[in-house]
Amino acid sequence: MPTLNSLTADNLLTEKEILTILDLAFKLKAQKKAGKRPQLLAGKNIALLFEKTSTRTRAAFTVAANDLGAFPEFLGKADIQFGTKESLEDTAKVLGRMFDGIEYRGAKQSVVDGLAQHSGVPVWNGLTDEWHPTQMFADLLTLKEHFGYLKGLTVCFVGDGRNNVANSLTIGCLKVGVNVVIIAPKQLQPAANIVDIAQQCSQISGATYFVSDNIEDVKGADAIYTDVWVSMGEENQYEERIKLLKNYQVNEALMTATGKKSVFLHCLPAFHDLETEVGKEVYHSYGLAELEVTDAVFRSKDSLVFDQAENRMHTIKAIMVASYHQL
Ligand code: CP
Ligand code: NVA
Repeated sequence: MPTLNSLTADNLLTEKEILTILDLAFKLKAQKKAGKRPQLLAGKNIALLFEKTSTRTRAAFTVAANDLGAFPEFLGKADIQFGTKESLEDTAKVLGRMFDGIEYRGAKQSVVDGLAQHSGVPVWNGLTDEWHPTQMFADLLTLKEHFGYLKGLTVCFVGDGRNNVANSLTIGCLKVGVNVVIIAPKQLQPAANIVDIAQQCSQISGATYFVSDNIEDVKGADAIYTDVWVSMGEENQYEERIKLLKNYQVNEALMTATGKKSVFLHCLPAFHDLETEVGKEVYHSYGLAELEVTDAVFRSKDSLVFDQAENRMHTIKAIMVASYHQL
């Protein structure tokens, strides 16, 4: 495989790139467990640009860079003049003269695209409103570890079917032959451009793509995936979202309705426990009905959420290595 260079959006990836990166992630994970840290990015300086908050993505890029011999530098929203004192193009050119790679998390896809266009170095999308491609790699690695294969599995995303995680999961899965079902109320079903890309991917791989507002369509799913109902930047839509989504909660009845021994996936952070400090502070007046997943499912033996979180780091390593080395 030629070098990946940048990773800005899922639709730009090929099946071969995804599978090759997953293979490398498996190897890097095994090496880390054996105490080995191959210095595949020795001496590289990596900028970590975060205009939105993060636990996993920031931690994963930082540890991945350190393990591989690179030097990560965190630049938060308040730290650099991004689109205020200086154009995106100029910032990209300056960063590209100093850093060997740039991770970007923020709202606009046009920013990560602009960084890739103007910086001259690999740029990785750490989440925009449209895509979350590094998450998708961790999701696929987790599924492959658990089931031993990908092609022919069925993943069902329940909840806000228009968000970044749903978009990336859909396209990544369809490219490698995993069937995708999106279950969401009509107002939160995938945008037309995502449906177009998904249908094209489905035609190429033969994996099926199905969008529904009927919760009973979870039947047959090998994995149930959900994400927060209110993504970063959408906080003013809280009340509306809870009303739209309260019948789409992932609970034990829904897991049973698959009719299979299904696993539960979530990119995290998750709303699942009303009794925590964050639960008491964040949740409003709807109580249990506003949780996208119940605590019982989140903590069940079928929940792979912490494997997914750990796999962010192994897959991000593989993505960065693939950007500088031919695999
Ligand atoms: N899943 C994920 O991207 O988590 P963070 O927002 O904590 O980075
Ligand atoms: N959809 C969520 C994902 C967080 C990892 C958000 O954008 O906030």
